[in-house]
Amino acid sequence: MQIKIEELKKSFADALALAGSAEALEALRVEYLGKKGHVAGLMSQLRFAEDKKVAGQLINGLKTYVEGEIERAGEELRAAAIAAKVRSAKKYNPTLRFPEEHGSYHPITLATREVEEVFISMGFTIENYDEIVDDYKCFEALNIPKHHPARDMQDTYYLDNGQLLKTHTSAAQNYIMKKYGAPLRAIFPGRCFRNESTDACHENTFFQLEGMMIDENISISNLIYFMKTMLSEVFHRDVKVRLRPGFFPFVEPGFELDISCEICGGEGCPSCKNSGWLELCPCGMIHPNVLREGGIDTEKYSGFAFGLGLTRLAMMKYGVKDIRDFNSGNLKALSQFESI
Ligand code: DAH
Repeated sequence: MQIKIEELKKSFADALALAGSAEALEALRVEYLGKKGHVAGLMSQLRFAEDKKVAGQLINGLKTYVEGEIERAGEELRAAAIAAKVRSAKKYNPTLRFPEEHGSYHPITLATREVEEVFISMGFTIENYDEIVDDYKCFEALNIPKHHPARDMQDTYYLDNGQLLKTHTSAAQNYIMKKYGAPLRAIFPGRCFRNESTDACHENTFFQLEGMMIDENISISNLIYFMKTMLSEVFHRDVKVRLRPGFFPFVEPGFELDISCEICGGEGCPSCKNSGWLELCPCGMIHPNVLREGGIDTEKYSGFAFGLGLTRLAMMKYGVKDIRDFNSGNLKALSQFESI
């Protein structure tokens, strides 16, 4: 009997090692512990009381062993199944959007990319710059000393540490001149801030795209050429523009480049303050003081700069009548542009 039990134990252990599923385990349990299984078979062979006492203990030992092993193997299988499920499950990613809903690009993003492409094709690099700057970068390096009346036009938000939210992208001019030296061609889009009351064509937070080209023999004709090319590429047709003198301390001479209001066709509307024209791109030849402050040799180099009103451009390009729509977070207004 003892030998028989040892053999059964061994053949059970071999079969168990091969049982890779809950079904296989159940079959094994039935084979050994079922009504007609091996254990029951052994018990039925016991005829005498003494046999039952001694051999019965051995058979019970086999029964306990088989039960325990099947239990253990079952646990192992369940744990492996859970681990496999976890491994194959999609990982939670908090930055993923719901797949059913597609967002759309903000019109300012679309306008920025379009202007960037035009300038990249003309050899300009794209620069990124801070939104918080110091007084020197925003004003003094641009030939606007303290108490200069030009500061009145650009009131902004000041931080406790004396820094401020930049009022124009020109605040990056000095940094970029010092970073690259001459010759250079760069554009730098950015968010700007002004402390002013808002209406259909004024916002306290808006975008500009500044550009600078510094090289030998740069003149106003270079400036006009680049501005015209950029505008006709962005609007995909000839746009009516006018150039008139404008004063900015950091350029000499300085100009206002206006485009005919696309919203009213030049007839006058709230978006263009009823003038039919919209100031779009002030520009000029960079003042020698500004070049010198940026470490540029003014004997050898000259340059032009422009500050394109990117938000204004997006208004014209997409027919947005109220500048406040851009920052409204109103998806009805903003989700009608190119989808992502
Ligand atoms: N920074 C000026 C403003 O926001 C705009 C400007 C004027 C930029 C002339 C220029 C420039 O680069 O040449 O009012």
